[in-house]
Amino acid sequence: MTFFLFYGTKYLFLNSILIVLRVNLLFLRNIEFTNMDKRTFLKTSSILAAATLVEPLVACSTAKSKISNSKEFSLLPLPYPTEALEPHIDKMTMEIHYGRHHATYVQKLNEAVQNTTFFGKKIEEILPAITEKDAAIRNNGGGHYNHSLFWSILSPKSTAPSGKLAEAINATFGSLDSFKTNFSDAAKAVFGSGWTWLCVGKDKKLFISNTPNQDNPLMSQIVKQVGTPILGLDVWEHAYYLKYQNKRADYINAFWQIVNWDEVAKRFASVS
Ligand SMILES: [Fe+2]
Repeated sequence: MTFFLFYGTKYLFLNSILIVLRVNLLFLRNIEFTNMDKRTFLKTSSILAAATLVEPLVACSTAKSKISNSKEFSLLPLPYPTEALEPHIDKMTMEIHYGRHHATYVQKLNEAVQNTTFFGKKIEEILPAITEKDAAIRNNGGGHYNHSLFWSILSPKSTAPSGKLAEAINATFGSLDSFKTNFSDAAKAVFGSGWTWLCVGKDKKLFISNTPNQDNPLMSQIVKQVGTPILGLDVWEHAYYLKYQNKRADYINAFWQIVNWDEVAKRFASVS
């Protein structure tokens, strides 16, 4: 609302200046230049110069509003440099994965929501509402949400689960090691491209699930197990093939070295 008020007021103000200048110009153009004295000439020149300066400003302001209105979603900066996760995830993989794959999902999502009832809604509102008919929003909306979550739950800093998250993991899976084994086995079992998740269900209990392609457990009209993901692992080949080739298990083992458990705990606290 503040955004629209700010840019709306700015737009009206600049346009008002332009209209006044144009009216003055029309008036001045009717003056016979042969009869123009020095004072009138200076006045005319000043108004012409001002109009020349203001018009592009108004045009630029209008263009900016149109651009920002048509880009609902944006690629947020990574919370660390692309080389920060080495040797577990290499710089080139991060650059391509984030800078090309994720960027493309964002671009295509912006295109897909245009002129739909999903335009203007948050991604967390869109994903539970989509059906299998919404293929472009499903693939690109999922791609955007999943990768945004993925970057946030990785960190070059070594962390460990603690507090209520650690208690919930122990209560559900027996121990952290047992949880890692279950999660890793699920990730190895994804056929083709997909994701493995640790989620909080509606009953507030933790569960592990897999989804194909860019689906995720928020897509309540598409997936079997619905929940809020708090940890996710991308097992598309684009996530690991440059460094690990076909050795997905090695990539999964490396993943545990760079999980940002503080972020996972924060996400767990927000839904439990
Ligand atoms: Fe990916």
